Amino acid sequence: MLSQINSNFKVKQVEKSRISEVNYETLSFGKEFTDHMFVVKYENGKWQQGEILPYGNLSLSPACSALHYGQSIFEGMKAHRLAEGGLALFRPYQNIARFNHSAKRMSMPEIPSELFMEGLKQLIALDENWAPDREGCSLYIRPMLFGNDSFIGVRTSESYVFVIILCPVGAYYAEPVSVLAIENYSRAEKGGVGHAKTAGNYAKTLMPVELAKSQGFKDVMWLGGENHNIIQEIGTMNVFFVVDGKLITPEKDGTFLEGITRESVIQIAQDLGYEVTERQITIDEIIAFGKQNRLQEAFGTGTAATVHHISKIAYKNEIIDLNPEKHVIANHIKKTLESIKTGQYPDKHNWLVKI
Ligand code: COI
Repeated sequence: MLSQINSNFKVKQVEKSRISEVNYETLSFGKEFTDHMFVVKYENGKWQQGEILPYGNLSLSPACSALHYGQSIFEGMKAHRLAEGGLALFRPYQNIARFNHSAKRMSMPEIPSELFMEGLKQLIALDENWAPDREGCSLYIRPMLFGNDSFIGVRTSESYVFVIILCPVGAYYAEPVSVLAIENYSRAEKGGVGHAKTAGNYAKTLMPVELAKSQGFKDVMWLGGENHNIIQEIGTMNVFFVVDGKLITPEKDGTFLEGITRESVIQIAQDLGYEVTERQITIDEIIAFGKQNRLQEAFGTGTAATVHHISKIAYKNEIIDLNPEKHVIANHIKKTLESIKTGQYPDKHNWLVKI
């Protein structure tokens, strides 16, 4: 309850904003950060008073537990400018729930939803003018939590730091993505942490992604299961295929991130009259559908990437070429989703939280 949370944060504002240094016409992803950040520590078994501080470096012990043992989680959220004016967050309570789901799996304290939201709202209110108003751009929100014990030894940390930073962003990917369904590496297996948004899940993908790049592909399609042929996700996105005019996407099995965009895309597709099935999908059947010309579209979904076309799927000696210009279903869903986020399409599921 809010009454139990000290939302009377200490605020230290910058003397001079850096916003004039940012070129909003060439915004890319993840390079620019707003003037302030929200920081709250967890110590002695409880959340301390939150602070809004000038964006800047954190001071850490070289023995900081997160750096050694990876007790670190994060989220990706977005706020958009609304056509009617003002800003809205897209399904923030889903992100908070997933953040706390990740925290639980990584043996970290859950953050009260009110503390998270209050810190986020006050931070955005302060840096509101940083939110881009160009099509395809948004204010990306990166909350994170890490173990901060100065201690060498593997154990659950006793102290943590929660931080929220904000970035005005453009598109995550500049072009449709070609993917290699990789044979000898895996991102996650059942019982592991594939469903948690924890830092190590991303670190372990880097080397296989470099391998895919060296073979001319942009990213990796992750496979799992006993025969290493069950499709999980792509790079930083959940994945959808359009086969014979119907959508299919891997069913949740704990090995991949349960995307909020994924869930929104399923709902929007159904609202628009498309059939969507969540089921186990093997790479062999996708290649077979491709060869039979039944695979019409493939796309990834994620907060950063939104809905993003896949141009090529490679597996062993096979390559399936797709033509993103013909991806009408993906484009229909993407346009609807983006229009909901900016208040230009009815928000019938009440996904927006205005700030
Ligand atoms: C997101 O989609 O928000 C992510 O966190 C993925 C990526 C930027 C790591």
